[in-house]
Amino acid sequence: MNKIIIAIDGFSSCGKSTMAKDLAKEIGYIYIDSGAMYRAVTLYCIEHGLFLADGSIDEDKLKQQMSNIHISFRLDTESGRPRTFLNGTDVENQIRTLEVSSHVSPVAALGFVREALVRQQQELGKEKGIVMDGRDIGTAVFPDAELKIFVTASAEIRAQRRYDELKAKGQEASFEDILHNVEERDRIDQTREVSPLRKADDAILLDNSNMTIAEQKEWLMNQYLQATHA
Ligand code: DC
Repeated sequence: MNKIIIAIDGFSSCGKSTMAKDLAKEIGYIYIDSGAMYRAVTLYCIEHGLFLADGSIDEDKLKQQMSNIHISFRLDTESGRPRTFLNGTDVENQIRTLEVSSHVSPVAALGFVREALVRQQQELGKEKGIVMDGRDIGTAVFPDAELKIFVTASAEIRAQRRYDELKAKGQEASFEDILHNVEERDRIDQTREVSPLRKADDAILLDNSNMTIAEQKEWLMNQYLQATHA
């Protein structure tokens, strides 16, 4: 069967990555979490003092240092899940903290950051057989992807999911802070000038507010089967 590109976009914390990861595993495709790449650049900025006192980014310094930022993914042999590496160090847990979540939107809004990461993402998809999730995969990274999905769910439900996730990992978090973070990221993601979050015209819309993970999985598998047998 010919391999295709599957682009899954949508709002933050709407369960895209769980769906995308599960599908990739089941059909033997590579899974790439493009948000992890923006998060890794954000962690680099935090660690290297590139956030200024007023919360803005030292853009000149970041531009100079972009070529020092190497992001890669390796499969965890035990769980079969991909882990994110920044300059050779496993940062999978660090990039999921609320600190990184609250700093990532302004980093993802920088044109030169997006250009660099989009180039790497396109390279990763050169051979097809890839499921990539993010915000601009169907619109900017792979506008010709054979299957495009746009996922959404209410902000409260997404905040609750992220809250449960952090709790399960033993991280302290307040539901109100998370809801605020989710809403703020929605606003910035949708209104930024470069590649704002929007549904591609040819993407299939999925509102998973009231769906179980098993139902989403089945729905996505059906979309994949339809796309490959079309
Ligand atoms: O999916 P996520 O929450 O891990 O994404 C982290 C941030 O990165 C989010 O604020 C939006 C941004 N992002 C983006 O701008 N483009 C992508 N393709 C993926 C993520």
